[in-house]
Amino acid sequence: MSAHTAQNDRSPIIILTGASRGLGLSTLQILLSRYNARVTTLSRSTPPDFQAVVEKYGDDRVLAIQGDVGDQATNAEVVKRTVEKWGGVDGLVLNAGGLEPLGRIADLDLSVLTTCSNTNLHSALYIIQPALPYLRKGRGADGAKGRIVLTSSGASMTGYVGWGLYCMAKSGLNALARVLANEEKEAGVAVWAVRPGVINTDMQSLLRDKGPGVMDPTQLQKFQDMYDNGQLLPPDEPGAVLAGLAVKGPIELTGEYIEWKDDRLSHLRL
Ligand SMILES: NC(=O)c1ccc[n+]([C@@H]2O[C@H](COP(=O)([O-])OP(=O)(O)OC[C@H]3O[C@@H](n4cnc5c(N)ncnc54)[C@H](OP(=O)(O)O)[C@@H]3O)[C@@H](O)[C@H]2O)c1
Repeated sequence: MSAHTAQNDRSPIIILTGASRGLGLSTLQILLSRYNARVTTLSRSTPPDFQAVVEKYGDDRVLAIQGDVGDQATNAEVVKRTVEKWGGVDGLVLNAGGLEPLGRIADLDLSVLTTCSNTNLHSALYIIQPALPYLRKGRGADGAKGRIVLTSSGASMTGYVGWGLYCMAKSGLNALARVLANEEKEAGVAVWAVRPGVINTDMQSLLRDKGPGVMDPTQLQKFQDMYDNGQLLPPDEPGAVLAGLAVKGPIELTGEYIEWKDDRLSHLRL
């Protein structure tokens, strides 16, 4: 087994997907700085800002794995390597996701269905299943069991024109949270689907660039206005809540689709 130190033995062990930028990168920084966590990350790219965080904390705090969340074997490998390195898994933050392909249902290229649902929905099952035996063990100092945070979206509850596949996948995550919460309640594993708000990340620039001509103009304008008026959230605000949920989220709220700014999560905010 690993090179983990005695001093670190009780620091949380978290797997975080989509950590390379945006909301995931902020969540990573907060897990490391506020919660002293040991974090395994999974993303396809490793941009300089991400690399800087990995280098700052070193390889006894971050295990950075490059790969596609839509690939089942990669997810199994992520769990295996985390357990080999640190001896368990305490929490998952399943944050990787993407809006594309945009397109109205009538026009969608159906050959991309699998790729999109693998990234945004099936990936959660690909990692939850191998991680559950470890999440159920309750390795934490307080005896708490594992916690699973699914990054959902307001799109899970809204009919955004041109976002059909994304909306369907995010609704699926809400359903997954409800079912899994019931199935794992006795084992003590908690799960939430979090609405992280409208955040100033690459995803928002993508919709401003590619939304015109596909999205409903009024729906698109809402996002454009938020950008123009400086109302997009900085990623560390919802990121703090994702990180906090993974480490010490209130288990009595398991199964909920919950807003990042819900008052019941105020103790987890920045
Ligand atoms: N921004 C918003 O307003 C907003 C609102 C509601 C929900 N969300 C959700 O928040 C999450 C993070 O989005 P963001 O806004 O931070 O967008 P972002 O800046 O585009 O980041 C997306 C992250 O997901 C990773 N990712 C995407 N596809 C992947 C794949 N196939 N395999 C591995 N990693 C993959 C990306 O890494 P690589 O490209 O390096 O693989 C990146 O780290 C997403 O689930 C998104 O749906 C965002």
